[in-house]
Amino acid sequence: MTASDLRSRLARAPVVPLIQADDPGVAVSTAHALVAGGLTVLEVVLRTRAALECLRGVVDAAPEAIVGAGTVLSEAHASQSIDAGATFLVSPGLHASVVAAAQVAGVSVFPGVATATEAQTAWNLGLRTLKFFPAGQAGGVSMLKALGSVFRDVTFMPTGGVSAKNLAEYLALDSVIACGGSWLTPKAAIASGDFETVTRLAQEACAIANEVRG
Ligand code: 3PG
Repeated sequence: MTASDLRSRLARAPVVPLIQADDPGVAVSTAHALVAGGLTVLEVVLRTRAALECLRGVVDAAPEAIVGAGTVLSEAHASQSIDAGATFLVSPGLHASVVAAAQVAGVSVFPGVATATEAQTAWNLGLRTLKFFPAGQAGGVSMLKALGSVFRDVTFMPTGGVSAKNLAEYLALDSVIACGGSWLTPKAAIASGDFETVTRLAQEACAIANEVRG
């Protein structure tokens, strides 16, 4: 999977749902529900003890999806995620050792930035696609417009406080490659085995994206 494969997949459905699970079976069912709803770029977050197992499970069970690891905080997380089959890495913040581990392995990496200084540091590490986190708290659409006006060759993936309510506003910006978020995988629905809700939310997100981007 090359960076351009990922970009073209995101151009078709520019939304990256987060999968957080304690159990690989639940992670796989969630992934299948998202794919059924049209979202095929998935981020399994390293926030549970079973996260790497969940990541491996989703990579194996959903070959039609592009599967990355999220909440990658350290170089160790990065290499474990790559070993588990992650084809991209996402971090809440910017850490040079995570970026270097991804670059050495030839894996895309989207570190989180919330300020111009962080974006400039990432730019000087050779990165041109950055997570914008936490999007809502860090200034939302107006902050992205300001960052986009100076970092002309950077695209952003706003995450944090994005939902079906404001997705269209973010996707309307040329500098936004995709939006990420957990609203597509509500904990209560998943805990009760209601994966239809996950599929419906994915379909809704795809419909919003189609409306904005055609
Ligand atoms: C992340 O990991 O990117 C955020 O926790 C997602 O934020 P959200 O839960 O508001 O979508």
